[in-house]
Amino acid sequence: MTAASRQDAAVARTGIATSALVPSANAGSPEETRGGSAVRGMSAPAAANGPTRGAPRSLLDIEGLGRDGIVEVLRLAESFAEVARRPIPKVPALRGRTVVSLFFEDSTRTRLSFETAAKRLSADVMSFQASASSIKKGESLRDTALTIQAMGVDAIVVRHPSAGAPARVASWVDVPVVNAGDGWHAHPTQALADCFALCGALGRPLDGGAEMLAGIKAVIVGDIRHSRVARSVTQAFSLLGAAVTLAAPRSLLPPAPETWPVAEVSHDLDDALRGADVVYVLRLQAERGAGAYVPSLREYSARYGITAARASSLAPEVRIMHPGPMVRGVEISSEAADLDRCLVDDQVRAGIAVRMAVLFLLLSSGDGASGAELGGHD
Ligand code: MLT
Repeated sequence: MTAASRQDAAVARTGIATSALVPSANAGSPEETRGGSAVRGMSAPAAANGPTRGAPRSLLDIEGLGRDGIVEVLRLAESFAEVARRPIPKVPALRGRTVVSLFFEDSTRTRLSFETAAKRLSADVMSFQASASSIKKGESLRDTALTIQAMGVDAIVVRHPSAGAPARVASWVDVPVVNAGDGWHAHPTQALADCFALCGALGRPLDGGAEMLAGIKAVIVGDIRHSRVARSVTQAFSLLGAAVTLAAPRSLLPPAPETWPVAEVSHDLDDALRGADVVYVLRLQAERGAGAYVPSLREYSARYGITAARASSLAPEVRIMHPGPMVRGVEISSEAADLDRCLVDDQVRAGIAVRMAVLFLLLSSGDGASGAELGGHD
């Protein structure tokens, strides 16, 4: 099947008209293998291990995805957001495929979001919880990953407390791996969701023709040191043209913040907020010991929290974002969290659309889901 007819079939099957599906570059080429797609920047770690393995594309971080890859995912997510508004928000695009969520760390929204996204694409979903698994009996991550792969899954969504664990899994298995958050390192689908939600709130078209967030000042405030979200959001916002300011006490900044793609690093939130279009608030990562980096929660909250007073001093068009879970009364007050211009719910909705786009792009153009399968109806 040609790339063009593959895309037509995808459109027919899903009802989604998008130019974000670009299997053409690889269609029919030796690089196109099971589960593979031509998503720009989604890495192919297994390919790097040797020619005997397939070349599944994985999404491990924003750096690897790059600006074009971000644009491609966001554009497709727009179509899937439209699906979510239908009375039956489901398309048969990944019928017969199986997605497993392999979570070694607590999660509510990310796991539910990935599983909802997979189900809305009609994929089967398997759920793995480390606390109720053979990991408890001493099984290694590699053996667990290979066991899950042997069950015939088509994609593995990994969350792990150690930075780099999803990349390791991707190097062992032959199917695409999606990083759902690894240690302090990266949380790429959260950043993609945030770009999608922010562009929507600002009325910025996702056409990829211009830098979507050009002229926007984004202030990221809080526990930047321990936050994988901060790393991925900073990269994604700045790739889309935003000027990013990091605001935090010295103790909660990463070792070399000036090496991040930021316009400014500030220790004074009120100063940083001058001229801001969006303030992105991060939770203190208590489970990573962040409490020990601040003198007291009360003082931290007064200096770096979006208190009711601080929220009311912001210009009305300034958007407030938070990846969740929010700890009300610490990094954000209830007054701020409940404002209409707080985009938390938009971010959650965007998360499903963006994860549908990622899973679709990773899984739809391999040999299993191409051709006739994409031409059907639900
Ligand atoms: C994460 O997984 O890092 C969350 O989305 C943000 C948080 O836990 O504070």
